[in-house]
Amino acid sequence: MFTNLIQANLTTNVLGREIEYYTWTKSTNEDAWGLIEDGANEGTLVITDNQTAGKGRAGRRWVSVPGKSLTTSLILKPELDSRLAGWFPLLTGIAIVDALKELGLNTKLKWPNDVMVHGKKLGGILCESRIHGSILEWVVIGIGLNINEQENELPVDLNATSFFMESSSSNQRELVLAKILNNLELHYNTLKENRGPKTLLKFWTERCNHVNKTVKFEADNDIQEGIFVGINNDGAAIINCNGKETIYNSGDIHIIEL
Ligand code: BTN
Repeated sequence: MFTNLIQANLTTNVLGREIEYYTWTKSTNEDAWGLIEDGANEGTLVITDNQTAGKGRAGRRWVSVPGKSLTTSLILKPELDSRLAGWFPLLTGIAIVDALKELGLNTKLKWPNDVMVHGKKLGGILCESRIHGSILEWVVIGIGLNINEQENELPVDLNATSFFMESSSSNQRELVLAKILNNLELHYNTLKENRGPKTLLKFWTERCNHVNKTVKFEADNDIQEGIFVGINNDGAAIINCNGKETIYNSGDIHIIEL
């Protein structure tokens, strides 16, 4: 990847102004935490062409194809109320959907962090945070997107797709990334200026593909079936099971009714 091509397409003030590029690494999220320890500035981006031990949500692995996937982590120092932590995967999802739309690809969000095209997964987000007292000190936003992979390069069992498979043309990962950062900075500023939940809740709901749909909700080894009502002011999922609403901060959704 070419860092100067990313930076040439940025309209941001802070995000992506400093970039650490590695030809290969185990996990860009892990690298980001190391950089924080070494005194990294907010907005620093870690990218790699070959991530060998990528981390997914809930302790899962994240597999990427060298030179074809977009694997990146962004360092933020929000210093906001820790209750806003749940918004980071959601605002990142909004930014990704809008960036891909600018490049001609229509995607939708599946709570809390999956980027979907026609029911298939194009990418995911892994946000990790460090909280001090009630203050959200650091957030690392890890983004993994399938960009130029062909069908035979993606694991069959994962119901995955790529930008290439959906559009039949290859795409510059640098441009995709710059557009994500441009959108992300706007939404991050919205959150910081305390306009967060109201505006972002609306944006996220518009981009979600399962509001008011029947879903299976899996959390803490328990599976419930209910209607996904939406998200609350903390970005948590509201599920209605037999008339009773339950709030979930984490879990997995399987959409039953499309
Ligand atoms: C998910 O489970 O859907 C989230 C996947 C997040 C993967 C990205 S790839 C870049 C960053 N580094 C990691 O180790 N994981 C995230």
